[in-house]
Amino acid sequence: MERKYLIVGNWKMNKTPSQSEDLVKKIIDLKTRHGISAHVTIAICPPFTSLDRCAEWLKNTDIAIGAQNLYFEKEGAFTGEISASMLKDLRLTYVIIGHSERRAIFHETDEQIHQKVKIAQASQLIPILCVGETLDERESNRTLTVIETQISHVLEGLTNTNLVIAYEPVWAIGTGKTATPEMAQKVHQFIRELLQKQFGKGSQIIPILYGGSMKPDNAADLLTQPDIDGGLIGGASLVAESFMDIVATKGLSPLDSRKES
Ligand code: 13P
Repeated sequence: MERKYLIVGNWKMNKTPSQSEDLVKKIIDLKTRHGISAHVTIAICPPFTSLDRCAEWLKNTDIAIGAQNLYFEKEGAFTGEISASMLKDLRLTYVIIGHSERRAIFHETDEQIHQKVKIAQASQLIPILCVGETLDERESNRTLTVIETQISHVLEGLTNTNLVIAYEPVWAIGTGKTATPEMAQKVHQFIRELLQKQFGKGSQIIPILYGGSMKPDNAADLLTQPDIDGGLIGGASLVAESFMDIVATKGLSPLDSRKES
């Protein structure tokens, strides 16, 4: 099966259910009008309260939908939490796990993130596992060590390659500062090697996305790097036109041919 670019919109805590409906309708409409490349898969991750309505709009399209978080217990007395089976029942494909905002603001640990990845995979949801270094970590030359620690702790003992990794340098999120294509490529290549060590040949199907101030005007430079397989888009995914302009980035050759060259 062809490996495709994956462009995911993370709407974070934005859009009421009715605003979400407007946005999803515009995305569907632009996709039809633009005739998007067959080499790209599109996914959106609206807030929990909008998932049901958006999933309904998307059910006859090839645009996928995911959640932004889940809890690692199956069910029970966990007031305010959402389980994997609740998400699966909405026919979601993806769930973002371990976003840096959840790590920093809600103090999620690698151990909890590990549990979340496990329950997501056990429930046939594809985790989009986020990793990334802070500015302080980058400036003290610890980027690769931080990434290696996050990945090795979270993926410890896992064998299921139904997984997406998103490299999101924390200092690039919502700041307008983007990692240069070369900086991003270096980390992506390193992540690819870590995945290869853990999963062997099977790791080749795991998409590695870049996230952090990706916009229509920098998307092409990032997405054409040899180990960048897509994007996790925050701010620019809240406006249908800019999100779909990223999806419609010109010059993306099929991922498989790119890897062979
Ligand atoms: P921005 O695109 O707004 O920088 O956000 C990136 C992000 O955090 C996606 O998960």
